[in-house]
Amino acid sequence: MQLIISSVFLLSAIKLSFGATTGDTSEVSLYQNYEGVIPNVKSAMLASIRTSWEQGTAAGGILEYDNPEYSVFGRSPFTSNGKEPISALQLAYSAAVRQTADGRLSQNIGDALDGAALDGASAGSVVLMGSFTDESRKAYWLNASEAELNYILNVAPRTSTGAISHRADSRQYWADGVYMGFPFIAYYGAVTQNQTLLQIAYDQCRLYRDALLLDGPTGKLWGHIYSDDTKTWTDKGLWGTGNAWAALGMLRVAVTIQKANCGSGMTGQVSDLMAWVKEILDGEFAALTSENLIPDYVIGGPTFDDASASAALASVAYRSVTLFPHQFGSNYTTVANKLRDAVLSRVTNLGTLSPVVDPLNWDAQGLLSTEAQSFALMMFSAWRDGLGL
Ligand SMILES: *[C@@H]1O[C@H](CO)[C@@H](O)[C@H](O)[C@H]1NC(C)=O
Ligand SMILES: *[C@@H]1O[C@H](CO)[C@@H](O)[C@H](O)[C@H]1NC(C)=O
Ligand SMILES: *[C@@H]1O[C@H](CO)[C@@H](O)[C@H](O)[C@H]1NC(C)=O
Repeated sequence: MQLIISSVFLLSAIKLSFGATTGDTSEVSLYQNYEGVIPNVKSAMLASIRTSWEQGTAAGGILEYDNPEYSVFGRSPFTSNGKEPISALQLAYSAAVRQTADGRLSQNIGDALDGAALDGASAGSVVLMGSFTDESRKAYWLNASEAELNYILNVAPRTSTGAISHRADSRQYWADGVYMGFPFIAYYGAVTQNQTLLQIAYDQCRLYRDALLLDGPTGKLWGHIYSDDTKTWTDKGLWGTGNAWAALGMLRVAVTIQKANCGSGMTGQVSDLMAWVKEILDGEFAALTSENLIPDYVIGGPTFDDASASAALASVAYRSVTLFPHQFGSNYTTVANKLRDAVLSRVTNLGTLSPVVDPLNWDAQGLLSTEAQSFALMMFSAWRDGLGL
């Protein structure tokens, strides 16, 4: 124990002196500058009324910020270290209490009529996390997460290629679904040591990319919504947040496979997923506006500055550079830093990100976006973890 402590100490001493010669010290003081706005960003998220996907996304962001050791980016996230990740479990508990009988988490609001098949699963990972971090409710968490897994694998409609539909009453691909559903399937596989589930999560990402990938003015990016029932685009625009959902989801599936005991032998799948993440970062980062923000749409919709997609994609870049340094050079950090400064310097007195796309109307600016608040927590946590703070 003594030895471990002193080598950790030594490591941080080396890091600090290294940082001093490479300019990291200015990053550390910037970090301390921005640190003060984050509690308001977090409380604005918790204060906001949330739908199913917002509940799960809020839980994901708060876990990375408050208990990074249990997020899939942590060192050994699939077992308990004795600590209870209370704030994420609080959000998970509400998602489970509001589960509908068919298994969808966070669904029992507004008469349970929102029609989403995958959105509820966005809280699935934190609900399953309860089974090994909150012993007193172990059976409750297991039942709730098993019901959610059963719904997405066996009840939700499938498209003609076998992709799980994003909607409950029709067959549709939404880029959003890649974050909502597939990280949970992979996480379930990692926690229960079931490689079949890791492979299903990978295959679902692949099928969604096959359906939604388009050529855009700045490279290949994902269209937002395609109907497999009518074989037409509902939204063919290259939406910033849609691409961010896809990148956030594929990154989490890749890292989960990489960390799972049963994921060895799946290096090809991990490198495919990270190549697809890179494709999105390249297309979106080449479209930065004069304010150093991601536009709402690259093409096919309005191009106003959007701090929401910007924070999400900056978080993806920070994590990718830290975890896959050979594939992602320091040029990704350079862009992520620009996005971070543009986003955090615009946080309002109420802690809200601005300007942001309205999460209920992708063509318009909104006043408050719960997902944007969570994306900012993800960005800040990814930056912090990359600095080793
Ligand atoms: C398991 O979860 C389902 C879906 O929420 C629920 O209907 C059922 O009552 C739960 N069973 C137990 C034993 O908690
Ligand atoms: C792994 O998950 C799949 C899909 O849910 C299931 O059919 C299979 O029985 C599971 N395997 C084990 C060993 O639990
Ligand atoms: C970073 O540099 C690599 C290698 O030159 C290039 O392929 C990639 O497109 C660049 N990405 C960004 C976001 O600048």
